[in-house]
Amino acid sequence: MSVIHYQKKEDMKFETTGNGILRAEMLPGMVDGVHTYKCKVAAGTVVTLETFGDQTQIYYFTRGEGYVATPKKAFNIEEPSLFIPNMDKEANILHAATDMEFLQLTSVMLPEDYEQFDHWHIALPRFCPLSGCIEYIEGFRPEGIKALSILDTHFLTRMTMGAIIGKGPNKAAPHSHDNLYQWYYGMPGTKFIYRAADEEIELHEGDWAFIPTDIEHAIEIEEDENVNYVWFEIELTKAELEAKKAR
Ligand SMILES: [Fe+2]
Repeated sequence: MSVIHYQKKEDMKFETTGNGILRAEMLPGMVDGVHTYKCKVAAGTVVTLETFGDQTQIYYFTRGEGYVATPKKAFNIEEPSLFIPNMDKEANILHAATDMEFLQLTSVMLPEDYEQFDHWHIALPRFCPLSGCIEYIEGFRPEGIKALSILDTHFLTRMTMGAIIGKGPNKAAPHSHDNLYQWYYGMPGTKFIYRAADEEIELHEGDWAFIPTDIEHAIEIEEDENVNYVWFEIELTKAELEAKKAR
């Protein structure tokens, strides 16, 4: 495997972070300045979520129920949900009613990101359950595979996130992205084939995969199987895009 970087759920090594959260960094070092973690908290635990002033950050709750409280608001987590803290401006307390699992995705802010962020970004804190996300259509994706936008382009500098949900048998046609790094996380109940270039993996719940830019990729879901994953993307930096153009 050289194109698809892949970490199976069972190969993730969780460590205590000291604040009550068990955390595993998934596929470290794929993209400079970007960290992708899977976190777990036990039922009944109350934890303060890590915040940053110099990194944009997304939390995506993948399993369990609870709520996040900020000094001004509380957000109920009853289904997969996005939470974006208001940088390091306030504390965000997670109350786990059941065992919970979530993704913590962070990206360092470059000067161009501060510029973009100061010019425009989605109001923070941002909370959105998956059922409140916007469905969108792409030409290469057949009917029967639903695509939802969790975090739209430039809502938060170079980060984007979405969900793909459907039943087999079905497939989505090969396509590639020339300006995006892509990661994939298998949500509960999923099993599908992910192909990129001439490589192929079977993605299950809790698995994490990554591909670089410009790689043709496609999915296939077999009869009686379900596809249910969230993708996370980071746009190339200005310098990377200019270097590509020059080539
Ligand atoms: Fe894609």
